[in-house]
Amino acid sequence: EKVILAYSGGLDTTAIIPWLKEHFDYEVICCCIDCGQGEELEGLEERALLSGASKLYIEDIVDEFCEEYIVPCVQANAVYENKYLLGTAMARPVIAKRLVEIAEKEGASAICHGATGKGNDQIRFELGIMALAPHLKVIAPWRMTDLWTMNSREEEIAYCESHGIHLPFSTAQSYSRDRNLWHISHEGLELEDPACEPDYSNLLVLGVTPENAPDEGEYVTMTFEKGVPTSVNQVPMKVSDVIRTLNRLGGKHGIGICDIVENRVVGMKSRGVYETPGGTILYEAHQQLEELVLDRATAEVKKEMGNKLSQIVYEGKWFTPLREAVQAFVASTQKQVTGEVTFKLYKGNIIKAGTTSPYSLYSESLASFTTGELYDHHDADGFIRLFGLPLKVRALKKEEPAAS
Ligand code: ARG
Ligand code: SIN
Repeated sequence: EKVILAYSGGLDTTAIIPWLKEHFDYEVICCCIDCGQGEELEGLEERALLSGASKLYIEDIVDEFCEEYIVPCVQANAVYENKYLLGTAMARPVIAKRLVEIAEKEGASAICHGATGKGNDQIRFELGIMALAPHLKVIAPWRMTDLWTMNSREEEIAYCESHGIHLPFSTAQSYSRDRNLWHISHEGLELEDPACEPDYSNLLVLGVTPENAPDEGEYVTMTFEKGVPTSVNQVPMKVSDVIRTLNRLGGKHGIGICDIVENRVVGMKSRGVYETPGGTILYEAHQQLEELVLDRATAEVKKEMGNKLSQIVYEGKWFTPLREAVQAFVASTQKQVTGEVTFKLYKGNIIKAGTTSPYSLYSESLASFTTGELYDHHDADGFIRLFGLPLKVRALKKEEPAAS
């Protein structure tokens, strides 16, 4: 029997290979899913095979991740608990989908992942697998505490060595990180105490703090067509390159660093720092354009839908009719989200520097004081009388002597 292992090449998932062979007698097929984590994939096959795997797949899903998972969240302005741009959460379903495809191709009967029993990721992977391939068995070693007895990096290294696997893993404790093209998350070490200031000099990977950003601001211009980003600084590019370019600019100027205590699905609070430099710029630019283009009533409902989507995505319910329906609503609001947005990036700040759209509902003549025939100031008299009528009725009622 075959098992597909979600493999990163790190110590945790490497130790799982001999463990699966020892306890289940599986043929282990490793699958490294590249969603833009920027890690060296060179030498990964050798490492997997040395550790006892029969095969390694390296699957580049960056464009699928960007176009089908990130873009709908940007369009919805989906933000979890007002701050988290969902970088890890958005990637899990697309990873699950690819793992399932490979399991089917290989005729495997199980999928194994290295997420712990305390987190969100286990839920997201497994809900994805359940929705796409309900017959597949899921193996989560970290939850099988009677069989998985390694509790430190030292013990994992010793376990590997005792199975003849000699690899240069470091025992140094580090943050628990998850990186992809959209973001990097950091948890653990001093971050576990919300009273502690993050040790930014050690922490940051994608950029610098605002203090260390250049003293000179920098302009960036983005275009969107129907809610999809299509160019940066007048150079047309696909979404993944838009994100790469904005990551570089945002990281340089200290944009998108976010330190939060969030509520995990399993009930606990957890403190993390996220770097989403390009994503923060992209969300802001898209919103900026919507301000011009969306009518108020649509924008109001859309805000609720965005909150809904953030919860759906955070909870790993991507492959559900509700996500499809919310996404369809959002898509229909994007028909005219076309235009150009310019920002100045300066020491952690995104400063507006002009927005245009052929579909802008903003009317300068209407908003300015010289009004023409479209807006008659006298109309406001009657409007306010009716708009305020219930307030007036209630106030008059209060003045009446109390009914006996
Ligand atoms: N707390 C974030 C989330 O739930 C990040 C999780 C990071 N995952 C990891 N394996 N380090 O989306
Ligand atoms: C993990 O516990 O595997 C990472 C954190 C999370 O999933 O929330």
